[in-house]
Amino acid sequence: MATCKIAVIVGSIRKDSFNSKLAKALEKLFPADFSFLHVRIDDLPPYNQDDDASPCAEVVRLKSDIVAAQGLLFVTPEYNRSIPGVLKNAIDHASRPYGKSVWNGKPAGVIGVSVGPIGTALAQQHLRNILAYLNVPTLGQPEAFIQNKEGLYDAAGQIGEASQKFLQGWVDAYVAWIRKHA
Ligand code: FNR
Repeated sequence: MATCKIAVIVGSIRKDSFNSKLAKALEKLFPADFSFLHVRIDDLPPYNQDDDASPCAEVVRLKSDIVAAQGLLFVTPEYNRSIPGVLKNAIDHASRPYGKSVWNGKPAGVIGVSVGPIGTALAQQHLRNILAYLNVPTLGQPEAFIQNKEGLYDAAGQIGEASQKFLQGWVDAYVAWIRKHA
């Protein structure tokens, strides 16, 4: 069975990130032909247009990870009602030089978990604006704004019963979206 490789881009570089945990738990809800590559963004330098002609090894790696994927999964926290700077930095790196963006045409889904009740809604909205500009077809519905609260996970760290149906529905819609656009 051919595998559909998904580049997972987590917008937090924190060791115990809730978003990283969510990304890993979601992977268990996917069909067997999906595989996941966690894209590293914590060692990228601040984007500088002067370096476009000679990108460092970390930026080359980022771009090749995106190129190798059939789809993108953004799992991001909300920082001050937007996306974290580290995520924007990674997006900017992989979008340049002008006309050579590796994001172009890659289908994506956006999800995120926060401690607050709006569950990354505003961060996701900002991210959708960026992805629209970058010509990334992004799953519109269902939206998934997740709050990190009791019952999200079971004792084994997998998606708990209370959230299972909703998140399985989200994953199923995402899988159909990727299959349609990949
Ligand atoms: C936050 N947090 C936060 N939460 C939220 O719901 N809306 C927000 O605008 C913000 N803003 C914000 C800014 C900064 C600089 C930090 C450090 C945090 C709280 C955030 O949801 C919480 O720290 C999550 O745990 C971050 O996600 P990870 O790192 O656990 O994946």
